[in-house]
Amino acid sequence: MSSDAGNFPTWRGRWTFILAATGSAVGLGNIWKFPYIAGENGGGAFVLVYLACILLVGIPVMVAEVMLGRRGRHSPVNTMRAITAEVGARGYWRGLGWLGWMIAMLVLSFYSVIAGWALAYIPEMAIGAFQGVNAQSTKDIFDTMLQDRDRLILWHTVFMLMTAAVVTAGVTRGLGAAARVLMPILFILLVILLVFSYWHGDFARGFSFLFSFDFSKLTLRGVLEALGHAFFTLSLGVGAIMAYGAYMPADASIGKTVLTVALLDTVVALMAGMAIFPIVFAHGGIDPGAGPALLFVTLPVAFGAMEAGILIGGLFFILVVVAAWSSAISLLEPGVAWLAENRGFNRFTATLLLATVIWLLGLGTVLSFNDWAEYKFAGLTFFDGIDFLTSRILLPLSGLLIAIFVGWVLAPDVSKDELNGENSVAWPLWYWVLRYVCPPAIGIVLVVGLYDSFS
Ligand code: PHE
Repeated sequence: MSSDAGNFPTWRGRWTFILAATGSAVGLGNIWKFPYIAGENGGGAFVLVYLACILLVGIPVMVAEVMLGRRGRHSPVNTMRAITAEVGARGYWRGLGWLGWMIAMLVLSFYSVIAGWALAYIPEMAIGAFQGVNAQSTKDIFDTMLQDRDRLILWHTVFMLMTAAVVTAGVTRGLGAAARVLMPILFILLVILLVFSYWHGDFARGFSFLFSFDFSKLTLRGVLEALGHAFFTLSLGVGAIMAYGAYMPADASIGKTVLTVALLDTVVALMAGMAIFPIVFAHGGIDPGAGPALLFVTLPVAFGAMEAGILIGGLFFILVVVAAWSSAISLLEPGVAWLAENRGFNRFTATLLLATVIWLLGLGTVLSFNDWAEYKFAGLTFFDGIDFLTSRILLPLSGLLIAIFVGWVLAPDVSKDELNGENSVAWPLWYWVLRYVCPPAIGIVLVVGLYDSFS
């Protein structure tokens, strides 16, 4: 990917973007977080609200973010600067680039720790630690790991190094190529797991848990969580998608591209849910509301019972790592690009600096599972607090500001021009939703959801 992307044939440029953006979007959010927050919020009604958030808010904001990136053609901080100057908007709108950057650092700090869990599971799988286990024993294995601070730090460090290594080298075709090979494999493995859970799990109960809508289980807090997760899973509000949008060829259709990425992302999340819940229900000892542990205690039960469990389980966690890796890169890249662009750092120093700060922050998440488990602020551990702050406050806030900026501050001609609105039936609809649906919906859910969380 480079700024001469526009010279590529359109299909190639478009697919490069789709791959990179899908690599960013499909990550721990889909495979780890979506199933567990759906479980914590009682399933079906939450899933429906989540899908509505993707459709009505996530996709329109994603279009807006890609469009800003392609218009600005810089790292997000400079893109926002260029665009605010171009349209004569007030200087504080530039802060949107900064806000995204700050959120990206916070998100990556815990993301890396969780990806480290998946890393730690690869050797466990390989030595057959989960063969023949039951729900209780996987839970014990997982809890023992969380207690082991040094082991968590080790894998957190490994993951940060992997991420930094790619970012230092520049976002290369290598990663695009890796995504092209690995994403389909991830998909195939999910299908295999789905088949397994169909045969060996309580598929009907898993299905009805995820897709029957019992609204009595839904809370306002759950609605806020669904909205925040829609932003998280589509990689919105942190500049990642804006940065990638900068590499998109001028003649590619943003709308179609965004729809493809959002669809792939959603399908992967739903497949992960359907791979996990039938197994949860078939094995009495696992609670669907188990929280962040869910992926790490349920799937090993399935792997442990499979003929080829060592192989498939090992592969599966490798792919979870890869999915997390391509997302982590997109979290680190915008900040590094900016430091390198403006501050006279070379890429290596910029990466080292940011990665170190993020690594240090990540230690807070590590410790919140052991040494600091008792330290709580407003009932939340350090990890819970950062997750709450980013997913439920900062991401919706950033999305809200993007919708307001593009819908109300930017002249309609700018987006009409970038989105080829002259010939499109979709443009007026998108513009209307972005102006009249997104800001009030995000604003209300944010305020009411937060009020509910603290009352
Ligand atoms: N979308 C990623 C996931 O679902 C997380 C992410 C958020 C990546 C923001 C980049 C930017 O796991």
